Amino acid sequence: MPRLFNRNFIVGVTGSIAAYKAAELTRSLIRDGANVRVIMTEGAREFITPLTMQALSGNEVHIDLLDTQAEAAMGHIELARWADVVVVAPASADTIARLVQGRADDLLGACVLATKAPLFVAPAMNQEMWAKKATQDNIQTLSERGATILGPDAGSQACGDIGAGRLLEPDHIVQAIADTLTTGALAGRHIVITAGPTREPICPVRYISNRSSGKMGYALAEACLNAGARTTLISGPVNCEPPVGVELIPVETTRDMFDASLSAAATADIFIGAAAVVDFRPESVSKDKIKRGGASSMDLKLIANPDIIATIASGHPRPQVVVGFAAETHNIVAYARAKLQEKALDFIFANDVSDQAIGFDSELNGGLLISRERETPMDVTSKLVLAEAIVAELSQSLDAL
Ligand code: PMT
Repeated sequence: MPRLFNRNFIVGVTGSIAAYKAAELTRSLIRDGANVRVIMTEGAREFITPLTMQALSGNEVHIDLLDTQAEAAMGHIELARWADVVVVAPASADTIARLVQGRADDLLGACVLATKAPLFVAPAMNQEMWAKKATQDNIQTLSERGATILGPDAGSQACGDIGAGRLLEPDHIVQAIADTLTTGALAGRHIVITAGPTREPICPVRYISNRSSGKMGYALAEACLNAGARTTLISGPVNCEPPVGVELIPVETTRDMFDASLSAAATADIFIGAAAVVDFRPESVSKDKIKRGGASSMDLKLIANPDIIATIASGHPRPQVVVGFAAETHNIVAYARAKLQEKALDFIFANDVSDQAIGFDSELNGGLLISRERETPMDVTSKLVLAEAIVAELSQSLDAL
């Protein structure tokens, strides 16, 4: 199974003789299902060409912070938000020092500063440089700030020295990243997630629906799988690729989603309603295509659909944690809080769907995770990074019960 399926990786390549191994790392990541964008520092380009990295990653290589054309296509902030993971390999002593200082005068430094994605740093340098207190202090600082340091290996070096400072083999870097991302925090738990829109037919060719792409719900499913949970995904019609290992239940109407959700929720520890459920359906569905004829208007009587999440949250027994999503355009927090109460939820994630950059059918999302006790702001980032942050909060609350 591709362990890194659909994860967006930024590979930062810096000035080191080991830069050629970044080519192998990129190939390994892609073999493991990841999407890769490469940032090369000036020093890296002395050792390996951007063309090589472009051919292997399948994407244009990012080089300059102040290139107006590149910034117009995907600027450093977009890159930082696109990333689910940032790995700097090889990381030279100079780059490590720059990351510690929080320098933003090159593209790699700016991206690392601007991203919410987890940072992996694989050092490569001469053994004396690695052993120096300055480097060791820098490594400790990065590690204390949450970066994962991978390696280095010890052995004979390109400069003829023998000692610690060799870049970890690319396959070991990929393995270590995959192991770190797979937390096991939800091992033994069953999580049920709804995703995408529902559709309510009007006649054989028309239906009522909404703009949900399913990306948020599918990202949550991936995050739950990565946390080791048995994961059931009840999905309306979408174009997303289901994550490997998920139990997928495709549905169409709200009543289909209602039936599937109630049955799956019976064994669930957590139920997450990320679907944009159509609240009303036509009272009757025409057997034949409705013809316009000469009509200048048409009446369509709608009747209410069941509320899936409210039914589950008030059921006996109910999943220990029930989590809704509130898609709002104004008074976001007040409406979300009201839904938390009315639907008897444990958490609700409030997202502002008036912002075209986030929410419906976008790669990014952000908002506020609200429980009865507290509000946790979650910055705009890729849906997978956000999903992992939400899942981490939910698994903690489950442990605390
Ligand atoms: O799918 P994407 O393109 O990635 O977009 C993600 C998203 C914007 C759809 C997602 O982040 C989101 O906000 N989902 C909830 C959308 C919504 O319908 O919100 P709501 O405020 O109408 O409903 C509140 C909660 O009740 C939701 O958890 C919803 O799933 C649930 N509900 C609503 C109506 C209903 N009949 N049954 C329900 O279970």
